[in-house]
Amino acid sequence: MVIPSLIQHKRDGHAIAPEDWARLVRDYTAGRIPDYQMSALLMAVVFRGLEPLELAALTDAMLASGDRLRFDGFALPRADKHSTGGVGDKVSLLLAPMVASCGVAVPMMSGRGLGHTGGTLDKLESIPGFRTGLSLGEARAQVERLGCAMLGQTPEIAPADRKLYALRDVTGTVESIPLISASIMSKKLAEGLNGLVLDVKTGSGAFIPDPSRAVELARTMIALGEARGCPTVALVTAMDRPLGRACGHALEVEEAVEGLRGSGPDDLMEVTYALGCEMLLLVGAATDAVDARRRLEASISSGRALEKFGRVIEAQGGNPAVIEDPGILPQAGAVEVYRAPRSGVVSAVEPRRIGRAILELGGGRVTIEDAIDPSVGFVITVKPGDRVAKGDPVASVFARDEAGIASGLSALGEAIEIGEQGRLTPLITRRVTSRGAEVKAGAG
Ligand code: URA
Repeated sequence: MVIPSLIQHKRDGHAIAPEDWARLVRDYTAGRIPDYQMSALLMAVVFRGLEPLELAALTDAMLASGDRLRFDGFALPRADKHSTGGVGDKVSLLLAPMVASCGVAVPMMSGRGLGHTGGTLDKLESIPGFRTGLSLGEARAQVERLGCAMLGQTPEIAPADRKLYALRDVTGTVESIPLISASIMSKKLAEGLNGLVLDVKTGSGAFIPDPSRAVELARTMIALGEARGCPTVALVTAMDRPLGRACGHALEVEEAVEGLRGSGPDDLMEVTYALGCEMLLLVGAATDAVDARRRLEASISSGRALEKFGRVIEAQGGNPAVIEDPGILPQAGAVEVYRAPRSGVVSAVEPRRIGRAILELGGGRVTIEDAIDPSVGFVITVKPGDRVAKGDPVASVFARDEAGIASGLSALGEAIEIGEQGRLTPLITRRVTSRGAEVKAGAG
């Protein structure tokens, strides 16, 4: 296999044979192909795409690069959800304990921040002591005991994706439907699931902003899942503004705990309930959507979901007191309120700008090795369509120091646009299954 020829072949718009994809993935994972050649190939895929047989071969090779979670003899159905990535998206932190409290096991394997988006693992690790690096044996034992584990991609699971994901993050090769699909599905298919729900983000803060391409991404992942025995459904949800109010790791954990206490922001709860209903329905743990919603609401009103989150935190070495006292999360050195610079209507809260600003505050990675500061971020209390008066408090910056405050305030000035008019676009626009895409009520 001559790598430069394969790169040229893809660059010129031709398909690479399935067996060559299998070898490429195997050799790259084993360190026999250098990053610079793989980067060039990935960039060719970004521009040229993959044919269905190539995508299937890439996904299968990434899945086969590691082991799988096995649940032989375990009675509970298992479901998970995965988001294509957003800003302020802390849904997983609520959803895993909520669904687990409804009798469905959730072996949730998440990722780290990618580009301008935050990662569930980084958020969980802001909880003092929390260990996401569970082995497959530990994860399985915890899922069997508590119905839930929240872990990172272990070295045993899809190691090819682990390496490729980190490379894509720093080489401008994230935004590709086949690469995102293979990456997500190679991990999810290794979890031994009976059902998978995908949250495919659309809008300016999503990796695939265009709504029709978001549906294509959903369909691509659904086809991969269903062909490999994992019933898969997707919701297309808005990422043209941050989800919820908090953006930044520790701040998002705090907001997730509020949600589990029953006082989360409406948009966060709506997306969480909608995805949770799909999870329960996929594995037959609810009779219909009304029943599913009732069960999920009861998991919160009874306190069971919050208690489950505390038990998961404790089992993974974290301090469970965080569910009573978020003050034990890392605290920013400086906090400042941002006020509306003029009266008018909020026309945009630009998620990419907010995500980039968190990176600039030290809350994300610029290179693979960077350590992150979990305390920094924003709490933004306005959404597009809200009317504001000059001087109203609309957001807060959480930074390490005064220099961070200055850069955070300036980012908010760019991200929060105030004009004559603005409109909140529908939050959940499509439900996609193997049978097609259905427009959700109110989405037009
Ligand atoms: N999430 C993933 O796991 N992989 C991607 O490529 C993008 C989002």
